[in-house]
Amino acid sequence: MNPIVIAIDGPAAAGKSTVAKLVAKKLGYTYVDTGAMYRAVTLFVLQNGLDPKDEESSCALLSEIEVQVDAEDHVFLNGNDVTTEIRSRLVAENVSYIASYKKIRLFLVELQRKMAEQASVVMDGRDIGSYVVPHAQIKIYQNASVKTRAKRRFDENISKGIECTYEEVESEVKKRDYIDSHREFAPLKKSEDAYEIDTSFMSIDEVVQAIIDIVNQKVGNKK
Ligand code: CDP
Repeated sequence: MNPIVIAIDGPAAAGKSTVAKLVAKKLGYTYVDTGAMYRAVTLFVLQNGLDPKDEESSCALLSEIEVQVDAEDHVFLNGNDVTTEIRSRLVAENVSYIASYKKIRLFLVELQRKMAEQASVVMDGRDIGSYVVPHAQIKIYQNASVKTRAKRRFDENISKGIECTYEEVESEVKKRDYIDSHREFAPLKKSEDAYEIDTSFMSIDEVVQAIIDIVNQKVGNKK
């Protein structure tokens, strides 16, 4: 039987990863955080002293990069666990440039497609339903107002000890949304066949339940 794919796309800090992890746990599926992969490549570019705005030199590093994610949601860059480092502000500020380069996207999309062939997955990102797995049985577009998303990311940063002001986070979120939705190749967009969920006034549990209800309707409890 073909594995099930639940694609959860949407703009920055819409709460996709929190919700996707919980949905995956409830269903016994594998959670795949594709944003973490773009963040790992960004970290590598920065570690090598390169400017992420320079497409040619950033893409030239690809042959030296191995990215892996495990079932516990750890991210490895050339064998090193970079799960915490990829959440830094410097990575957040630069990741959308790296994610706009076609060569880098094709490299990571290949890994993502392999993962979606091997097991039933909940995969979150920007282009999962529109480009990575267009045949996904379930597509969700998870959204929330800019202010709500910036506040959520600000609170998350503070709880993790990442220093920032609300204004800085709001402008980073807006900038990433703009770059992500205006890039040429596989931009952020809602697929026509995606269910849109505006989470601005919903709790995490309500969003998880809304997705589980859609899954039950569409695929029952297939694995
Ligand atoms: O901060 P948030 O959790 O919302 O973002 P993320 O999922 O960690 O993704 C970080 C960045 O990676 C996004 O702003 C996009 O630029 C890029 N990305 C992408 O282009 N395509 C994906 N499938 C996932 C992430």
